[in-house]
Amino acid sequence: MSDSIEQLKAAGLPRHVAIILDGNGRWALQRGLSRAEGHVAGAKAVERLIQFAGRELGLEYLTLFAFSAENWNRSKQEVGALMALLRQFALEKLPELKEAGIRVRVVGDLSCLPKDTREAVEHVIAETQNGNRLNLTIALNYGSQQEIVRACRKIVHAVISGELDKGEIDRATFAANLYMTGIPDPDLIIRTSGEQRLSNFLLWQAAYSEFSFPETLWPDFTPEEFMKILKEYQTRDRRFGAVEGE
Ligand code: IPE
Ligand code: IPE
Ligand code: MG
Repeated sequence: MSDSIEQLKAAGLPRHVAIILDGNGRWALQRGLSRAEGHVAGAKAVERLIQFAGRELGLEYLTLFAFSAENWNRSKQEVGALMALLRQFALEKLPELKEAGIRVRVVGDLSCLPKDTREAVEHVIAETQNGNRLNLTIALNYGSQQEIVRACRKIVHAVISGELDKGEIDRATFAANLYMTGIPDPDLIIRTSGEQRLSNFLLWQAAYSEFSFPETLWPDFTPEEFMKILKEYQTRDRRFGAVEGE
């Protein structure tokens, strides 16, 4: 695998990969397990991928959609299991994250999370802030439409208070008021489990992203498959509105 890692790097990695990790529930159902057990298996796949992306691949930015603002619509039992798992992951994996030089950030509204989960996540953010290798962003209680509305409110507030002239509002001003500031837009967005939709993820930031929709259910997603997708990504011609090859 190390040969192909070197080849991938030489051909140019995307700076920022974002993943909608989907299919934990179906993975569990196929095995006669509970949805919560599917999420436990999903957390293992997260750990595997983070360590690979950070230590072996040397990816710059990785963003993972872990819990959407709409996921509160699931049963109390499933939401509780997800929040408990998140807390446990944050507490248990902190030493490994630090050791790998991973800097953890969160996008989304943390204020609605159970206090113990929120505190564990905030602790990881604070403790890893000097990480200088992989920038890992977890989208947690995140909704892109909510993020856009929030940015609008912030901008209106800045205009009313006289901090910002309304004629100065442009794409850069707008982007600076999103959760994801200072992070380049995702070059590649992957969604596992065969679903081909964004489900309210990075609507603004995905303007020129490439997409990949593997059939694999998230708990089965491996570094090998990630590499395969990156290799295919490298064959794409990103034009940004210009003409091919110019
Ligand atoms: C993704 O798996 C994890 C979260 C949304 C938290 P799902 O739980 O959505 O799995 P499926 O789509 O039901 O298989
Ligand atoms: C999107 O997956 C959210 C996360 C992966 C966290 P969902 O499983 O919630 O999306 P839908 O409901 O199938 O669109
Ligand atoms: Mg799903």
